[in-house]
Amino acid sequence: MLLTSSLVASAAWLASSIHPAQAVTAGSIVDGGDTTVSAMMMFVGNSQKVYILDKAEGNAAQINGHPAWGAVWDFNTHTSVAMDVKTNVFCASGMHLPNGSYATFGGNGAVTVGGNIGSVPTDGGSAASFDATYQDYDGRKAIRILNPCTDDDDFSSTKCQWFDNPDVLAMQKERWYSAAEALGDGTIVLIGGFVNGGYINRNYPNTDPTFEGGAAEPTYEFYPANGRTAEIMQFMVKTSGLNSYAHTYLMPSGKMLVQANYSTMLWDPSTNTETDLPDMPGQVVRVYPASGAVAMLPLTPANNYNPTVLFCGGSNMTDEMWGNYSWPAIDTFYYPASADCQRLTPEPTDGSAPAYEQDDDMLETRTMGQFIIMPNGKLLVVNGGENGTAGYSQNTDVTTQYSQMPYGMSLAAAPATKPAIYDPNAPKGSRWSNDGLSSSSIARLYHSSAILLPDASILIAGSNPNVDVNLTTFFPTTYKAEIFYPPYFSSSTRPSPSGIPSTLTYGGSYFNITLSSSSYSGSANTAAGNTTVAVIRPGWTTHAMNMGQRYLQLNTSYTVNNDGSIVMHTSQMPPNANIFQPGPALVFVTVNGIPSNGTFVIVGSGSVETQPTSAASALPVNQLASTDTSGSGSGSGSSGNNTKNNGATSSHTSAIVGGVVGGLVAFGILGALIGICLSRRRRAANRAPASLSSANAYALSDRKARVPASMMARGRGGESGVVESGGGSGERDGFGSQELSADPYNRQDYNASSDWNQSTAALTAAPPIPPYQDDVPRRENGMSF
Ligand SMILES: *[C@@H]1O[C@H](CO)[C@@H](O)[C@H](O)[C@H]1NC(C)=O
Ligand SMILES: *[C@@H]1O[C@H](CO)[C@@H](O)[C@H](O)[C@H]1NC(C)=O
Ligand SMILES: *[C@@H]1O[C@H](CO)[C@@H](O)[C@H](O)[C@H]1NC(C)=O
Ligand SMILES: *[C@@H]1O[C@H](CO)[C@@H](O)[C@H](O)[C@H]1NC(C)=O
Ligand SMILES: *[C@@H]1O[C@H](CO)[C@@H](O)[C@H](O)[C@H]1NC(C)=O
Ligand SMILES: *[C@@H]1O[C@H](CO)[C@@H](O)[C@H](O)[C@H]1NC(C)=O
Ligand SMILES: *[C@@H]1O[C@H](CO)[C@@H](O)[C@H](O)[C@H]1NC(C)=O
Ligand SMILES: *[C@@H]1O[C@H](CO)[C@@H](O)[C@H](O)[C@H]1NC(C)=O
Ligand SMILES: *[C@@H]1O[C@H](CO)[C@@H](O)[C@H](O)[C@H]1NC(C)=O
Ligand SMILES: *[C@@H]1O[C@H](CO)[C@@H](O)[C@H](O)[C@H]1NC(C)=O
Ligand SMILES: *[C@@H]1O[C@H](CO)[C@@H](O)[C@H](O)[C@H]1NC(C)=O
Repeated sequence: MLLTSSLVASAAWLASSIHPAQAVTAGSIVDGGDTTVSAMMMFVGNSQKVYILDKAEGNAAQINGHPAWGAVWDFNTHTSVAMDVKTNVFCASGMHLPNGSYATFGGNGAVTVGGNIGSVPTDGGSAASFDATYQDYDGRKAIRILNPCTDDDDFSSTKCQWFDNPDVLAMQKERWYSAAEALGDGTIVLIGGFVNGGYINRNYPNTDPTFEGGAAEPTYEFYPANGRTAEIMQFMVKTSGLNSYAHTYLMPSGKMLVQANYSTMLWDPSTNTETDLPDMPGQVVRVYPASGAVAMLPLTPANNYNPTVLFCGGSNMTDEMWGNYSWPAIDTFYYPASADCQRLTPEPTDGSAPAYEQDDDMLETRTMGQFIIMPNGKLLVVNGGENGTAGYSQNTDVTTQYSQMPYGMSLAAAPATKPAIYDPNAPKGSRWSNDGLSSSSIARLYHSSAILLPDASILIAGSNPNVDVNLTTFFPTTYKAEIFYPPYFSSSTRPSPSGIPSTLTYGGSYFNITLSSSSYSGSANTAAGNTTVAVIRPGWTTHAMNMGQRYLQLNTSYTVNNDGSIVMHTSQMPPNANIFQPGPALVFVTVNGIPSNGTFVIVGSGSVETQPTSAASALPVNQLASTDTSGSGSGSGSSGNNTKNNGATSSHTSAIVGGVVGGLVAFGILGALIGICLSRRRRAANRAPASLSSANAYALSDRKARVPASMMARGRGGESGVVESGGGSGERDGFGSQELSADPYNRQDYNASSDWNQSTAALTAAPPIPPYQDDVPRRENGMSF
């Protein structure tokens, strides 16, 4: 360690020059610090910060006088701090915006301790607009925007904080568990969801498949809406019951693959027309709460950027077993999840009809498994359980007493703690492997998350199959993050590319990326032929999904110089924004299977608009070096155990790394102790009487009934009184205009004319692209004022 020099050196010099060795074992899972709130949702904002969201619950961490349910985790220090979020973000969806900001959509009404309805009821008492204890607001229509910031920004400024004010910016409909997918112009489509909470999205018997008595939201809508109103999607009626967090992937044609229940279709967002595709073989359900691992396979020049989607795991529970809106009919924790994998190419270019193709089974059954596409084009599956489903409940139709539930509220069991890697290019029969991969000691069940970090490791966090914080149950609320180091971390040298631009266009001139001879080992000519440049969008993760996750390998050719440097002539994005929607992404250069760090780029114009495209320029022909030389890098990346240079950025970080490694041993022991305590508690729990109350009571039939006067008058803990409009059928649950002065949202002192219009929030290495204003007219989205 150059400690002496570091004391006198500038921070910039440190960051670029000091790379102390960090002992990282390929295939290992190590402590990633604490997430402050339980990481139900995450996204990577830039090369420093990961943003984390939880449901409104009784987290110990406080912010502005209430429990926190937002946080930001720092990549370099592995520490996190709380961030304020106003509305209940429980089971929201999320997506990037073309300018590098992120939006989250919907959530739950305001709740209080134990997941009970908050202190200011709305919708006939079936939901609340505010809770005085947790101080959360109704998030069911919320659109929250975050502009990612770095340590160079003033984190306390409004431009770095969540904008969360449904009074100003909101969806037209209330949505829990909606799907979110971007269109080619950057518009986000929100599809379906629950109006309020539940296990599956239908009643039993299913007499109202469209609305479920007001519990299901069968429409889609756009953000920005630009005058378009929410319309019913017939597929939501057809798949009624198992269609929340539908799997949605925009196709090159501009149509969207939508998969839910065991049905599949292509949807045209411009006409709302549907084209049926085949049913899922074996009727294996992949959407929540079956929660299969689903991802689009890498888009490559070799497959001409034609998407294939891979579906793995989930559950083949039958219609009857899924039971009810409230809870399952069977003891799901004893029902093995599915190991089945199917591939689907929704728009074949060879004239064949789209058809599911059986793929290799996973190495284990898995519900809530989650796919992370790695820079080497392989897919990691992490998290989840071998039995059961997502969701939590105090009972099933079989185990009717909470005290008898074998795993507390968890409807899943048998945590799948060992990751596995899927190679889409390996011959059938050999695509899955977990050789050399460690297991975690932490169960990652319902409400876990995982995401690719800019150094090509994977952040794993969350798990909370409980209605509110519970640190003492079988599968407790989890705040501990972990980092998984894939096998390529065995290499002590990582490619160090230069020349990656900060924006990519759709078509246009190619650019050159240069790799010095220290970026690889072995033959330069061979390395050049084994180099890929990939644009990866890690996505927005929740519920075992990474919404928006995509991998696109840019077209390349190369020139190898006699000094061993390699110039990769690299095409821009293919000239069709439907293939990879505009917005933030990471560019990785992978040589002989070893990826560089990711460089943040903005794909496209940075605005919600029809993206400019131009023809792709032809690439120069490959030129090998006349005298092949050997790179001075080392490591092959094929297997683990090497000590490598993972490049901590300062002496400070290096000390922390030492602490992390040391802490690991203690951590394993702690894990064992916890295991013992839990089995004791489990026995104790089996003897204890049922104590929790209404966590799984979902009033349905009466949720649009008028609020009784007595409820309307109910206290709101210190807030000036607000008289609810009562939510008669078809009415908004919002605040009448005469009530605006007392509107709790107003206390955010929001000033629409001054917020964010001159944001200097910057993506690291991104150019100063002009920030654009949200052009949506305020309140156009159906709030009634
Ligand atoms: C799944 O779809 C089928 C066919 O439309 C329907 O009969 C069934 O009720 C759905 N399952 C659930 C749990 O809603
Ligand atoms: C679910 O899958 C398992 C394993 O393939 C199979 O044995 C079982 O029969 C299936 N159940 C149903 C209801 O399809
Ligand atoms: C579904 O819920 C209703 C109302 O709570 C109940 O009457 C019915 O028995 C439940 N059905 C199943 C299959 O759990
Ligand atoms: C998972 O389900 C199988 C099949 O019912 C059962 O034998 C096993 O005990 C379950 N595992 C756990 C941890 O409950
Ligand atoms: C935590 O879970 C245990 C077992 O499921 C239960 O007995 C206990 O009441 C729960 N604690 C809280 C605070 O909900
Ligand atoms: C690491 O080294 C140990 C002991 O030499 C060996 O058993 C293990 O297989 C190695 N792991 C990997 C991933 O190569
Ligand atoms: C890229 O490299 C090629 C061949 O080495 C060279 O002709 C071209 O001018 C370079 N382009 C740019 C933009 O540097
Ligand atoms: C590229 O490198 C990887 C990792 O060393 C190796 O497994 C693979 O065979 C190489 N591919 C080619 C085409 O040389
Ligand atoms: C890749 O570039 C080459 C050379 O310009 C071109 O012939 C080929 O069509 C391109 N492939 C794709 C998928 O664009
Ligand atoms: C990769 O990023 C880390 C910071 O996360 C940095 O310390 C390291 O030097 C980088 N490695 C390379 C090869 O650029
Ligand atoms: C990005 O766009 C959104 C939506 O228009 C806007 O709210 C946000 O402020 C923009 N971000 C920046 C950094 O300008």
